[in-house]
Amino acid sequence: MELYERIPNNVNLSEDKGLLRALEKWLPNYLSWWREMGPEGFQEKDVYLRTAVSVEPEGWAHFDYVKMPDYRWGIFLKPADADARVGFGDHLGQPAYQEVPGEFRNALRRIIVTQGDTEPASVEQQRQLGKTCPSLYDMRNLFQVNVEEGRHLWAMVYLLQKYFGRDGREEAEAMLERRSGNPDKPRILEAFNQPCDDWLNLFCFTMFTDRDGKYQLAALAESGFEPLARTCQFMLTEEAHHLFVGETGVGRVVKRTAQLMKEGDVRELGGIPLDIIQRYINFWFSYSLDLFGGEISSNSADFFAAGLKGRYQEQKKYTEHSAANEIFTLMVVEDGHLVPREIPLRNALNEVLRGEYVRDCERAMKRWNKYLEDEGQTEQLYLPSTRFHRHVGEYAGHYFDVEGNLISKDEFERRRNEWLPTTEDREYVRSLMHAVTEPGKIANWIAPPTAGIKGLPFEFEYVRL
Ligand SMILES: [Fe+2]
Ligand SMILES: [Fe+2]
Repeated sequence: MELYERIPNNVNLSEDKGLLRALEKWLPNYLSWWREMGPEGFQEKDVYLRTAVSVEPEGWAHFDYVKMPDYRWGIFLKPADADARVGFGDHLGQPAYQEVPGEFRNALRRIIVTQGDTEPASVEQQRQLGKTCPSLYDMRNLFQVNVEEGRHLWAMVYLLQKYFGRDGREEAEAMLERRSGNPDKPRILEAFNQPCDDWLNLFCFTMFTDRDGKYQLAALAESGFEPLARTCQFMLTEEAHHLFVGETGVGRVVKRTAQLMKEGDVRELGGIPLDIIQRYINFWFSYSLDLFGGEISSNSADFFAAGLKGRYQEQKKYTEHSAANEIFTLMVVEDGHLVPREIPLRNALNEVLRGEYVRDCERAMKRWNKYLEDEGQTEQLYLPSTRFHRHVGEYAGHYFDVEGNLISKDEFERRRNEWLPTTEDREYVRSLMHAVTEPGKIANWIAPPTAGIKGLPFEFEYVRL
């Protein structure tokens, strides 16, 4: 079979000799990366997976059993709009860029490489988790997320190979060489070097860290560089399932914990106590906030001015698209105190995007707290302040409690174990992780889902072991 027949695509791959040549070289390396770093122990199993085979509504979600290395990773862009225009910034209303604008070549390449690097990183972080799945349904969801993150890497590699010539091809290779958590060749962003070795970590990761991905992709889906916008628009359709896995995953843990709280001591009953869940939330929420970048950023201003990266739902939510001459007020630390500072809105766009993200997380938090209420519990979970435990931006290097009050380093260290997962927490959670693989059965520390996949029951054999 010809390469272009093996790769489902809507980019006219069969006619694009240059791209075919680049992909021919990259594909074997990708496959060996997948075999080496993809889900360990399940490569030969049949998994009930969704594959995108076209961008049409009936084509993008085709379900069948497939062995992961045989997954048909494709290249899909949302169909082009003949009259696409730059939708914001200084070039508002001009025809959208079909090629990379020369002066922004480096910046755009960096955006694409940084996004692309996260995709294989998450597969690496999650590669051991199949062995401790709480149910076959969850195992299948994990693998679905993994193969789609693989496809997202393809999406970014397509852009690099198609639009960035030789350095694009080199960047595409480098993405298969870095490794999550490897001190010598780590992944680019810190959240993607953190271990993700138990299922509570996985659910928090897909809830909080993948959700950053959603907002980054949404901002790039507004881009005046059309191939990037159309690529991200299609990726967002897949990302929705990843966020579903995270939000419902944490929710099901909370629900089970709430049930066990009624029966007695959660730990004695083999569940995950609420305070441990809270510390995991604090950890992943704060690391994921860092991914949006500094609160005050000249890059964000440049990208917006150039029409490369918009605001969340720029076209839908806003009527004024220049964001010039507007002011944003941010709390900053000055002489040991938190004080308001006014900055030009364009320089605050990372923070504006972060705000959208936080509101979305608050919505999920309400739903989880509802599960606690439904079981008659008065305890609640919360999101820590966006200043808490930050390593990037204005608040990095300062110390805050979970309410956002400025505190001393000593006090932070004294209370660290109250707020962030301890070694003991992690060991305890790990001690609960035993694979449950009989169809219809589920581990004791998590509630079953309310429905299966694609209308199938929870009892369906989602992975044939
Ligand atoms: Fe992704
Ligand atoms: Fe994702």
